[in-house]
Amino acid sequence: MASFSTLNLSPSPKPTHSLLKPLIPAPEIDTRTQIQTPYPKLILTGPSQLSGHVSISGSKNSALPILAATLCCSGTSRIQNVPDLFDTRTMASVLVSLGAKVEVLDNEMLVNTDGVGSVEPNADEIQKIRGGFFVIGPLVARFGEAVVALPGGCNIGVRPVDLHIRGLQSLGAVVELRDGKVQAYAANGRGLVGGSFQLDYPSVGATETLMMAACMADGTTVLSNVAREPEVVDLARFLTNCGACVDGAGSNKLVIKGKSQLRGCECVVAPDRIEAGTFMLAAAITRSCISISPVIPCQMSSLIHKLSAAGCKIKKCSHDTLEVSAVSGRGGDNLLSVVVKTGPYPGFPTDLQPQIMALLTTCNGLSSVEESVFDKRMSHVSELLKLGAKIQENSMIVLTHVCYHVSVLNGSSLVANDIRGGMSLVLAGLAAEGTTEISGVAHIDRGYENLDMKLRFLGADVKRLMPLAS
Ligand code: EPZ
Repeated sequence: MASFSTLNLSPSPKPTHSLLKPLIPAPEIDTRTQIQTPYPKLILTGPSQLSGHVSISGSKNSALPILAATLCCSGTSRIQNVPDLFDTRTMASVLVSLGAKVEVLDNEMLVNTDGVGSVEPNADEIQKIRGGFFVIGPLVARFGEAVVALPGGCNIGVRPVDLHIRGLQSLGAVVELRDGKVQAYAANGRGLVGGSFQLDYPSVGATETLMMAACMADGTTVLSNVAREPEVVDLARFLTNCGACVDGAGSNKLVIKGKSQLRGCECVVAPDRIEAGTFMLAAAITRSCISISPVIPCQMSSLIHKLSAAGCKIKKCSHDTLEVSAVSGRGGDNLLSVVVKTGPYPGFPTDLQPQIMALLTTCNGLSSVEESVFDKRMSHVSELLKLGAKIQENSMIVLTHVCYHVSVLNGSSLVANDIRGGMSLVLAGLAAEGTTEISGVAHIDRGYENLDMKLRFLGADVKRLMPLAS
């Protein structure tokens, strides 16, 4: 087992590191593809017809808060099924920068925070991802103070942290923003105190930060209008296994009885519902039939509802396997337009909005997509237009775009600007005639483990251009 502090942290797509899923063959690196390119690029040749089965990795947005929550625990936590991504590696660096010991083997992380000697994580690491900021909750709760830089993450609109701050204040913390850092400490000089707080908006991150903080506060905390996302439930399950007392996860109200100490435990991160949804949309846009597992079908219902309405056939093959078919029997184009509006869970996930928009540009009729969670999550629109998609902003309803049916998308050179927007370009590239070249791949790699290998395994023609080693 390699000791993390000596490991080179630079994220690199290591093909064979997932012992958990030995089925996926290592990609042949086609040396001819190593042309002079400053950044990695994906080259897709379409239209693709996908077939077979794809394995879904652990959830990025569950793994990140669970890794942060190890700061609440003494002893060692063993976190399994952690996707090997830039973001999870960065979160591990955040923990190491505080003095934690992190050991990694494939998709497993052993985290021991007994050696934590700082309450100020490395700001550069925090600014690389959004989830890094969530450590502020466990740090103030366990150590009585924290100094955390304002987070980074996808540029998809304003992403304030006011709810995290006001929630901590309601638990007896004094919180100030100074020099781009949030400084928080327990007003009583000892620790946080149970209280009640109503979130203005069911923010996933704020719910997770405050749940972790309240787990070690003195007394009972009531958090209302909280997020109900499955990732919040995953975090509550981990904390409960560590000895915490959290009631109501998955509902819009949490009641948390604080404990003075929590102990590290073992946990397996749930499958990534956004990755699963993305592959379901890949089957739809390529008019293919594939099976996907592991998935938790009830977490996919809003997407299943939209895909069924569009004309896809979704079959539950087993408790954790879904088959998605959009094969057109009559040779004609079979999928129909739908109306989509994103919202907090169980609404339609904003993290699937760009991907379903790509699909809807190929469906018969007029579709509309309204983004209600983030105010600037539309960077993919101008890129999809380069493929010949017909998308128009609806001036009557803010953040709503109308997609007109086009029979053919044509390959082009595109730029990915964030994780999910970038993935919508990959889906469109799979369906487009000819060659699509996507740069900004690092964004996509932040959210999808072994992507090009999984697509290749489904029969897609995908190459990754790597810059020549200088
Ligand atoms: C989490 O981000 C996810 N990231 C996002 O996934 C996801 O899009 C989002 O939840 C919504 O589902 C992680 O879990 C690491 P929010 P988060 O707080 O916590 C407003 C991906 O692609 N808000 O629920 O940052 C905010 O401006 C990423 O994997 C406040 O006003 O999302 C936004 O409009 C992208 N004040 C809304 O809430 C606050 O203090 C939702 O944000 C916090 C949030």
